[in-house]
Amino acid sequence: MTTEKQLRQKLVQIGALLYNRQLAHGSAGNLSVRLNDGSILITPTNSSLGSLQAERISKIGPDGHMISGDPPSKEYFLHLSVYQERPSAKAIVHLHSTYSVAVSCLCHEQTEDVLPPLTAYHVMRVGKLPLVRYFRPGDRALAQEVRVLSKNHSAMLLANHGPIVSAASLEEAVYAYEELEETAKLYFIIGDRKAAPLQGEEIAEINRVFKN
Ligand code: 13P
Repeated sequence: MTTEKQLRQKLVQIGALLYNRQLAHGSAGNLSVRLNDGSILITPTNSSLGSLQAERISKIGPDGHMISGDPPSKEYFLHLSVYQERPSAKAIVHLHSTYSVAVSCLCHEQTEDVLPPLTAYHVMRVGKLPLVRYFRPGDRALAQEVRVLSKNHSAMLLANHGPIVSAASLEEAVYAYEELEETAKLYFIIGDRKAAPLQGEEIAEINRVFKN
């Protein structure tokens, strides 16, 4: 079993990894993990993911009350909404990585799924990616929109902002986040060329074999 101390260390390590890979910049982005008692560890507001300190990471209760550490990310209520709707979720990654944010700034004809299923790994780890309409960062109204979509989606894209991705562990949330960012990059590299995304039975097979 992973202890709280180990999870704090993991947040520090993964934060640095994301920062060094230039998936996080400045003080943008936040990470959280859910502990066995339902409380969560979340990165402090205005902290750089590149230089987190384990003992200063915020700890808050499932209802949002502060337990210890620095003041939490202003998006903590958004993380809580996802955890409440997805019992299997144990970790959340929210970043402002370039290509995903670029997709979030485009006009989309539909908002149910804003990236094509270009690769098997995108289907496997991300699935359908709905766009959540724009709210300013920290706006509590965002939580309700995210809550509704969380029932059926582990990943979603906040308009003019960035992705929020949940999974059963921090590593899995990072893998899914990175897959999403890579698909966004491919989407722009392909540009106006005619792409051949995966189709119905191909997607169904991936879901059958790799998802339970
Ligand atoms: P925090 O510094 O409060 O976590 O906010 C950063 C962010 O990414 C907002 O979307």
